[in-house]
Amino acid sequence: MHDRILILDYGSQFTQLIARRIREERVYCEIHPPTHTVEWVEEWDPTGIVISGGPSSVYEEDVPTADPRLLTLGIPILGICYGMQLIAHLEGGEVVRGRREYGRADLEILDADSLFDGFDLSESTRVWCSHGDHVDSPPEGYRTLASTLTLPVAAFRAEDREVYGVQFHPEVAHTPRGDEILSNFLFRVCGCHPTWTAGTFIAESVEKIRGQAGESAVICGLSGGVDSAVAAALVHKALGDRLTCILVDNGLLRLSERESVERTFRKHMRIRLIVEDAGREFLNALEGVIDPEQKRRCIGETFIRVFDRVAKEAGTGAEYLVQGTLYPDVIESLSVRGPSATIKTHHNVGGLPEDLPFDLIEPLRELFKDEVRQVGRELGLPEEFVGRHPFPGPGLAVRVLGEVTDERLDVLRQADAIYLEEIRAAGLYDEIWQAFAVLLPIHTVGVMGDARTYENVIALRAVTSRDGMTADWYNFPHEVLGGISTRIINEVAGVNRVTYDISSKPPATIEWE
Ligand code: XMP
Repeated sequence: MHDRILILDYGSQFTQLIARRIREERVYCEIHPPTHTVEWVEEWDPTGIVISGGPSSVYEEDVPTADPRLLTLGIPILGICYGMQLIAHLEGGEVVRGRREYGRADLEILDADSLFDGFDLSESTRVWCSHGDHVDSPPEGYRTLASTLTLPVAAFRAEDREVYGVQFHPEVAHTPRGDEILSNFLFRVCGCHPTWTAGTFIAESVEKIRGQAGESAVICGLSGGVDSAVAAALVHKALGDRLTCILVDNGLLRLSERESVERTFRKHMRIRLIVEDAGREFLNALEGVIDPEQKRRCIGETFIRVFDRVAKEAGTGAEYLVQGTLYPDVIESLSVRGPSATIKTHHNVGGLPEDLPFDLIEPLRELFKDEVRQVGRELGLPEEFVGRHPFPGPGLAVRVLGEVTDERLDVLRQADAIYLEEIRAAGLYDEIWQAFAVLLPIHTVGVMGDARTYENVIALRAVTSRDGMTADWYNFPHEVLGGISTRIINEVAGVNRVTYDISSKPPATIEWE
């Protein structure tokens, strides 16, 4: 059994970041809403608790609060930002309203106590703040550990218990020594052991999957992406040949993608794989469809029909279906923030409905994307597979703007392959979250060898991102962009112009549709 940290999410945009920082220290943690009872918390049995930041003020009505008994359970607690204000409030202290502070501050350590172990009393350290309210004097029974020019109590602790609060954000990169503060909390204060690694995760998952599946057969739909591949590899390790994978080739995959999946799974991993060639069926369904959301619906429906048919024909008698659901999706559905507006219907596009006659095995439910990659490496999946950029379920259909036809897909595939080849050759692939080509629904005029041309435009997109929620356009060296453009125009028949997309997300999205 691992030590584990309970993160109570009061709605901060940084809560996932806290979880990732703790996991990076090899300590297991989970994010939960703040609405659980103290009895639930005791039952969950955390080694320590982090109370996150959040947009509320303790004096507002209907704001998420906490049972004061939480502070006397004998479980170490770290309150961050709103979490600190909440502790002060629950302890009868005063929280000062207003006076927003946003940005860097210099933290002066007054007490190199366990939370600031290794820090020097005489020097100051940069921290990052983002708060409306703050605490001006520690509640009774608490003492100040650090302050800044504007915050007399930037950190405090209870005299007689392991309850701490910090007004700044140790989890963000703008607090350079934030990881030391979090690691002091985990190891010095909570006494955690750093045992949460890809290796132990695999060993425990294998046991869990065996326990869940019993003697049953299991099927898994592969998308060509990292998540379903790692989920399948993990289940294969647990159940061997009782796993059958299905790759529905929807005709919307990138150049050589199907072959690469076949090679990896059949030859390299020796996993039983059925490939269904359903490109025609998908293209027929997409005929005349231009609207992005309608494209997604067509592809989703066709996928379900084909997958269902192939699963039945395979006659495996499977009772379980493996899905590569990740932790951010799980958190989102538990979130106190509630469902956000539908920008694009991402989820379950290229996925399956909930009422299928299978029980689900979701071995990656607890992992973040970078952890999935680590597990994939540990399981022996080839690097070219594990390090892949994400690829959307509806595939190239949302990158061929306008109608999706064989000819247009073919133009895009060739341009995209050249683009990715050049990025790899320049050694830039791993710096980029996602790079792809888009075929625009217009023709433009050009001149080639004295003759007028009227042909396609390719737009190139490359972004950096941590999680796909926000993104920046990638700043390529100009000569790399120039080389890519020249090659695409020279080598791909039907293209006479290449443009580069310099929009960030928001306000643009990563995909064009
Ligand atoms: P956007 O375009 O919304 O994309 O900024 C964010 C991330 O999600 C991927 N994406 C999808 N994935 N089905 C998927 O499985 C979809 O319909 C879909 N649309 C976008 C996109 O590639 C990016 O990584």
